[in-house]
Amino acid sequence: MRLALYFFLSGTFARLSFVSCSRNVTLDDNDPAIIYSPGWSVSSGNNSLDFGGSLHFNNNATASASLTFEGVAVYLMAPFWSSSVGAQVAIDDQEPFVIDLQDYGVAVQPGLGQETLQSQVVWAVTELPNAHHTLVISMPAQMQHVVLDGLLYVS
Ligand SMILES: *[C@@H]1O[C@H](CO)[C@@H](O)[C@H](O)[C@H]1NC(C)=O
Ligand SMILES: *[C@@H]1O[C@H](CO)[C@@H](O)[C@H](O)[C@H]1NC(C)=O
Ligand SMILES: *[C@@H]1O[C@H](CO)[C@@H](O)[C@H](O)[C@H]1NC(C)=O
Repeated sequence: MRLALYFFLSGTFARLSFVSCSRNVTLDDNDPAIIYSPGWSVSSGNNSLDFGGSLHFNNNATASASLTFEGVAVYLMAPFWSSSVGAQVAIDDQEPFVIDLQDYGVAVQPGLGQETLQSQVVWAVTELPNAHHTLVISMPAQMQHVVLDGLLYVS
């Protein structure tokens, strides 16, 4: 957002300046602003591939997590895996988008497998109207696990 600041001195126009007020807000998966459905697990921590060292994961088909934020853009961060892992994301009333977080460059491992690639931005929506938005993350059909590692929004 850009704020136009007008300064008037003695009734005379003195200066017009533009100040950029946009700010990146990062949220680790354990941020209280993220509301999780019951039953999520939290990894043990200190995994350098994770944003903030740990992440939330779930294998329940009904699992979901949501974040309401005020801003103009939102980014989802996640590592990649040697197993069937993903996330379905939906913002406001828009069609959900499925993110496949399986690393097809390595052999498939059972269960959650292991992380293979550093957490990175895997999905983004920009140029949103500057208002409150709700992001919902859930289990994609046909995948075995959903994970939530980190979020970033631009306020
Ligand atoms: C905010 O984060 C986005 C996505 O990582 C990045 O492209 C942008 O440069 C960041 N802006 C600031 C001011 O840090
Ligand atoms: C993570 O690493 C830090 C620094 O090495 C250590 O103090 C902490 O106990 C570790 N936590 C876990 C859960 O392993
Ligand atoms: C999945 O979550 C729902 C809602 O929390 C719960 O009722 C159900 O028992 C869970 N299923 C499994 C297999 O854990």
